[in-house]
Amino acid sequence: MINLYKGNFIDTPTPGEFRVREESVAVVEEGKLISLESQVPREYASLPVRDLGLVIPSFIDLHVHAPQHMQMGAGLDLGLLDWLDNHTFPGETRFANEDYARELYPLFAKELLRQGSLRSVVYGTIHGKSTLILAEALEKAGLTAFVGKINMDQNAPDSLKEETEESLRESVDFCERMAAHERVRPILTPRFAPSCTEKLMKGLGELARKKDLPVQSHLAETRPEARWVSELFPKSRSYTHVYDDCGLLGPGSLMAHGIYLSDEEIELIREREATLVHCPSANINLSSGIMPLGRYLDGGVNPGLGSDVGAGHTLAMYRAVVQAVQVSKLLRVMEPEGNHRTIKLSEAFYLATMGNGRFFTGRGFEPCGAFEAGMSFDALAIDLELPKAVGMSPLNQLERFLYSGDDRHIKTRILAGREL
Ligand code: GUN
Ligand code: FE
Repeated sequence: MINLYKGNFIDTPTPGEFRVREESVAVVEEGKLISLESQVPREYASLPVRDLGLVIPSFIDLHVHAPQHMQMGAGLDLGLLDWLDNHTFPGETRFANEDYARELYPLFAKELLRQGSLRSVVYGTIHGKSTLILAEALEKAGLTAFVGKINMDQNAPDSLKEETEESLRESVDFCERMAAHERVRPILTPRFAPSCTEKLMKGLGELARKKDLPVQSHLAETRPEARWVSELFPKSRSYTHVYDDCGLLGPGSLMAHGIYLSDEEIELIREREATLVHCPSANINLSSGIMPLGRYLDGGVNPGLGSDVGAGHTLAMYRAVVQAVQVSKLLRVMEPEGNHRTIKLSEAFYLATMGNGRFFTGRGFEPCGAFEAGMSFDALAIDLELPKAVGMSPLNQLERFLYSGDDRHIKTRILAGREL
């Protein structure tokens, strides 16, 4: 079946600049963009054309914690480790109760949808059954996602601490049960090195290799955490090496934050083709620091962008786009000797769409993230409801939406050609 959509299409096939194609017609077949034309092709002249106005690729969130959706804002004047102990671990403990998961996770899926994040990579909790309920909620909402059951077998409250072997068994079981879903897939999720023994991480590394599973974790988010890791794992050369030594660092690895890394660690991450996921909102809230994103982009490291709710305080990826630009400016003025460069809005937008999309494409999903022929037609229609007399250009409208628009301005959400 062919669908036709007209509008002003803006995307970022490359990070350097926005591509604007005004008054164009998208020809979509079976969820894929066939072509973007200047007018309706003659062979389709009899088909209806839907006017979407300003059209952008839908957002992709590469790092978000579903159980923390309800704690957004709580304790965000703390540092990471106190915030985990006082707010996050108590909150996650509640998901031992599957009824609670059944009540809350559909609300999370609904909010992702509302904010236009139609693809995401999501953390659950250590509870396999509740995390399967999360996967089901995402699938039911029509979203595409990777979902992980967290592993923790040390330095966690008793209510969230697993036995090593049981944790591994639960992960195998979780991944097998996830096969029931088509557009929601499993990802191995050792929370971060402090909460996992070497034995657990090596077991997960082995599982990742054997079953070709992706991996997500946290890396070098704050100084106290990085110091703690060097005490906990004295045999490893660095924090990054802890994961690498356990077989957890590869092209399918998403490492959130990566603020405090040596040149050697950055080189190792580049070599392994792992992705460093920038989460500026969380980094501001927990006063973690600022990721030198420009250096990573220029140095050939794969970067991604995430909301990191609930350390981040909004699921809106358009806010993360703006925050990435803002913190890059702060880093530049505050560390003039560091040779940092500012991030362009188009680069941050690229990360939230095309850049993050590479993770999905590389893991068996159709290409996505821009309006290129052959890509999944993933789109948001934006309408700022401005008076015609303002006469704002489509690019200006997009900038205004990213900085000060909100979900009220997202009028239509389309994933793989299907309106959600
Ligand atoms: N490090 C370990 N767990 C977490 C978490 O839940 N959020 C963030 N931001 N960092 C972490
Ligand atoms: Fe996180």
